[in-house]
Amino acid sequence: MMEQQKKAKIAVLVSGGGTNLQALIDAQGSGILQSGEIRAVITTNPRAYALERASKAGIETLILPRDGFEEALEAALEERGIDLIILAGFMRILNADFTARWPRRILNVHPALIPSFCGQGFYGLKVHEAALERGVKVTGATVHFVNEIPDGGEIILQKAVEVLPGDSPEVLQRRVMEQAEWILLPLAAELVSKGVINT
Ligand code: GAR
Repeated sequence: MMEQQKKAKIAVLVSGGGTNLQALIDAQGSGILQSGEIRAVITTNPRAYALERASKAGIETLILPRDGFEEALEAALEERGIDLIILAGFMRILNADFTARWPRRILNVHPALIPSFCGQGFYGLKVHEAALERGVKVTGATVHFVNEIPDGGEIILQKAVEVLPGDSPEVLQRRVMEQAEWILLPLAAELVSKGVINT
């Protein structure tokens, strides 16, 4: 019998629509993500559509309380032997005690070219509103490791995306997702998973 390839066990943290989660699920199907496997999708928002995407893909879902979130999360991750955490549209800043326990084991996707339009208060559509307000002609997405500084960890991958005349925040958000986030996040997940199973 062929030996099963060892895979990094991944937990994906989500808050909303979950299109980045979907990109990871699709990448698992296509083989772009092959060194890691999504074992759990975790949220504090019981109405997150991402939960339906996970269930449809047969992935366990967990809704954890907002109060004492990091403690509950740590227990859930340990119970499942999780190796790698991916923040895919997760709208909450993890506390420094937690990030210190997972060095280079938490990834985040941010919808701008860090260090532009990032840090506390820059999330979701707000990032694109700020980019349009500033009048930048190029924006993009960044996948980075998470540390105690919001959006401050080591950058793994970045991709630039054009801002076009007449863009609304929603139109720009969609272009950044399609041209950058949904491509970069699976690539970074594979890169880091490969590192995890080889250490
Ligand atoms: C994505 O654009 C993601 O980069 C952003 O929220 C959106 C979530 O969409 N994340 C942040 O702003 C985190 N600082 P999704 O739920 O469809 O993946």
